[in-house]
Amino acid sequence: MEFSIKTGNVEKQHHDCVIAGVYESQQLSASAKKLDKLSDGYISRVLAHGDLDGKPETFLLLHQVPGVASDRVLLVGLGKEDTFDDKQYSKAVRTSVKALAKSNAANTLTYLTDLPVKARDTRWKTARLIELAIDASYQFDAVKRKKEAKETQDAKKGIQALAVFVREPDEQQANAGLADGKALGLGVSLTKDLGNLPPNVCTPTYLALQAKALADTYGFKVEVLEREDMAKLGMGSFLGVAQGSEQPPKLIVLQHLKGKKTQKPVVLVGKGITFDTGGISLKPGAEMDEMKYDMCGAATVLGTFKTLAEMDLPLNVVGIIPACENMPDGRATRPGDVLTSMSGLTIEVLNTDAEGRLILCDALTYAERFEPGAVVDIATLTGACVIALGHHATGLFSNNDGLAKELQQAGETALDRAWHMPLWDEYQPLLDSNFADIANIGGRAAGSITAACFLSRFAKKYDWAHLDIAGTAWKSGKEKGGTGRPVPLLTEFLAARAR
Ligand code: BES
Ligand code: MN
Ligand code: ZN
Repeated sequence: MEFSIKTGNVEKQHHDCVIAGVYESQQLSASAKKLDKLSDGYISRVLAHGDLDGKPETFLLLHQVPGVASDRVLLVGLGKEDTFDDKQYSKAVRTSVKALAKSNAANTLTYLTDLPVKARDTRWKTARLIELAIDASYQFDAVKRKKEAKETQDAKKGIQALAVFVREPDEQQANAGLADGKALGLGVSLTKDLGNLPPNVCTPTYLALQAKALADTYGFKVEVLEREDMAKLGMGSFLGVAQGSEQPPKLIVLQHLKGKKTQKPVVLVGKGITFDTGGISLKPGAEMDEMKYDMCGAATVLGTFKTLAEMDLPLNVVGIIPACENMPDGRATRPGDVLTSMSGLTIEVLNTDAEGRLILCDALTYAERFEPGAVVDIATLTGACVIALGHHATGLFSNNDGLAKELQQAGETALDRAWHMPLWDEYQPLLDSNFADIANIGGRAAGSITAACFLSRFAKKYDWAHLDIAGTAWKSGKEKGGTGRPVPLLTEFLAARAR
């Protein structure tokens, strides 16, 4: 999809479609009023038939409206006018793009950016519109047969070029928003793609190649540590998980160093389990295919790096991705095995399915060498987090309340929300082990918290936050697929630090 900003008397120009909003109780937005006037009240008369009440997620597509130069007018329900906020705005944008997905409205102009949205400026509205348009038109057919035929067929449908209307004084803001939205859309799409790829394609080696390709394109630093390198570093915990797999493990290290030399880097650590069978503590069969998404933390780091590079943010950011498979095998780690982590702490593996924390702990220790200003890990860590928060909020844990607030606020701004969970000392004894320094599970109660407690033992030397994205990184059921979350949250977090 191509995007452009338009100002001035655009009503006179021809488009395949123009999009305008209608509030609840059929109150026309300013631009819908303009179109109504041009059509001599035709739009009002059509609305009087009662087919569009203006509730959220509704729309009405009109053809050949008299007096309007464009072929179609898409009226989109906005909901209540007096409360009209960022969430209603996002819904309207998404609805408008989906409504035209199967149409021939290749050249479309949208007036939705002209709507007043509570506490949001034109830059935000434009960025969000572009991000949502990319998100709503995302398709994944990398592993479908007859790819080319399908592509040429589908390529003709839906919006191809989207012009975004803003008032003249807002043009500069809109252009900045357009760049933001595109950069974010690209990062989110990459994260979705990597998550959606099958686990026989998206292996640790594949992730390493993707990281190298990204670094090549944008000119940042990348380094891939192999099994022997990690053995030398003493990463016994990570390698303990990897030893049951035929796929060689990789530790991928990315460095976007565009800040002042004195600026301490933000380190992003992403869980990269390219398939989680549970290991010897094998998972049940139902929906096990979804464990290909267990590398969404890694995909989030790569997607965020893409966005970061596109935006050319003047920051120092390091990405660390421990990537391997969790497989049952003759050589696999057993329940009861004791592993020695890079930090020196010994870990009793009571359940081989609690593997995410075992690879992350060594990556967190590795992060120390960058003398980080903050470390944020991103992981599809626990089913318990899905039970606690469902699919709306990412679980947020931190050893620093200021950092937690920063991340939470970024999530609010980006509409990619996280909820601050407790990390109290009272939970720590649940990880006591009779045999090693620490156990890798803490029992059924507070599963997402004890997992975070485990990680906190390895993150004592810096400000650290943990994002449990088990409920937010992908959708199950009919719309099964990666969501690209929390790339928007992390991008906003970094952009705010750069400002
Ligand atoms: N990758 C899973 C977490 C997960 C489960 C994410 C379901 C999304 C949906 C993780 O490695 C895992 O298996 N965690 C166990 C921990 C338990 C053994 C303490 C879990 O959540 O059941
Ligand atoms: Mn697991
Ligand atoms: Zn896992």
